[in-house]
Amino acid sequence: MQRFTNPRDLYHGKGALEALKTLKGKKAVICVGGGSMKRFGFLQKAQAYLEEAGMEVALIEGIEPDPSVTTVMKGAEKMLEFQPDWIIAMGGGSPIDAAKAMWIKYEYPECTFEDMCKIFGIPELRKKAKFVAVSSTSGTATEVTAFSIITDYEKGIKYPIADFEITPDIAIVDPELAETMPKKLVAHTGMDAITHAIEAYVSTVASDFTDAPALYAMDHIKDDLVKSYNGDMEARDRMHNSQCLAGIAFSSGLLGIVHSMAHKTGAIFADYGAHIIHGAANAMYLPKVIAFNAKDERAAKRYAFIADYMKLGGETQDEKIANLIAMLRRMNDDLNIPHCIKNYGADSYPTEQGFVPEDVFQARKHDIAVNAIADACTGSNPRQPSVEEMEKLLDCVYYDLDVDF
Ligand SMILES: NC(=O)c1ccc[n+]([C@@H]2O[C@H](COP(=O)([O-])OP(=O)(O)OC[C@H]3O[C@@H](n4cnc5c(N)ncnc54)[C@H](O)[C@@H]3O)[C@@H](O)[C@H]2O)c1
Ligand SMILES: [Zn+2]
Repeated sequence: MQRFTNPRDLYHGKGALEALKTLKGKKAVICVGGGSMKRFGFLQKAQAYLEEAGMEVALIEGIEPDPSVTTVMKGAEKMLEFQPDWIIAMGGGSPIDAAKAMWIKYEYPECTFEDMCKIFGIPELRKKAKFVAVSSTSGTATEVTAFSIITDYEKGIKYPIADFEITPDIAIVDPELAETMPKKLVAHTGMDAITHAIEAYVSTVASDFTDAPALYAMDHIKDDLVKSYNGDMEARDRMHNSQCLAGIAFSSGLLGIVHSMAHKTGAIFADYGAHIIHGAANAMYLPKVIAFNAKDERAAKRYAFIADYMKLGGETQDEKIANLIAMLRRMNDDLNIPHCIKNYGADSYPTEQGFVPEDVFQARKHDIAVNAIADACTGSNPRQPSVEEMEKLLDCVYYDLDVDF
């Protein structure tokens, strides 16, 4: 038996934020990030809609990108003081993910971060509050997923919390919120979304229910992402739906080792002055992982099917997979994303000498490989890498080498 779970309601289209008016309850807390939602007036609108619905509203502001365990614990304390019956999380993946983890701690104050990280081990929520997620980036799709990614900065590692309990009750997919994204954010979050769709499609637990949204999403992202990046607002609006469909696919279909590697490399070089941004990490690693996974016959067939579906050409299975890899690398070029960590600058743009020094990468490679294999996303990858293979893959994503193993 398999399970396919989504939010109870999904409001979409321009102006969908207004759905907040229809909520019934006494108290709502709105969780937001560093200021973009306030700057563009969406926070004020959300607050006004909730007040129109007769609710008292409190704010948790300033949730940082790649949110920390400390932020989660502090936010949960505020929730425990205020006792909301609705949690409204607005913004990119960071504030929404942080709010999901705060929600667990609010409902179960004795629950530790380690408890939360037990995969599919979250106790029953909704005893105190329900959850609305309003996404402002077109990538993580956390508004529909059973996941939350929290960073433990002491270890420099991102941990996925995974349980259908944290699938939001209501998702609001309003493209107006995504129209204010700067170009770089469009590029990174969009490549995150196509990675979700492709990883979900070849996952070992993919099903008819996840294949359908995955294929739709990846094909449309291929057509729309570069246009959106270059300022086509109709393409930007379509991207907001496509990324959400990719989320519907991977929330139940799960992911693979592109994400395992991105989770374990994202913050591990922070002492050298930057993060490898999640979407950019995925964009660099995906072509290498496709070549690695294609040694598995079922995965190879599925990648070739993707190439056919996207009309990328090619006669043989190998040619089709090569065309898929080439198409993804072209997207990286068009979006100003480097092909490997060695060329990844502290500002995320391609550069001759990136911010991660070669000797530091080599010194940390073994630990990253061990941690990536232990990541929750590895279990559903089509091929289970050994530590040695993961180390080789890491070399390929550092130096942009061909994968021949
Ligand atoms: N839960 C999941 O299923 C899932 C999936 C993939 C990634 N993630 C996680 O999500 C996080 C990344 O989220 P993200 O990529 O959405 O970015 P983000 O939430 O970290 O936001 C990045 C920056 O963009 C700004 N921003 C957000 N929306 C904006 C808008 N509309 N206009 C202008 N500025 C805006 C924010 O203020 C912030 O400074 C990472 O921690 C990643 O690991 C979660
Ligand atoms: Zn992702």
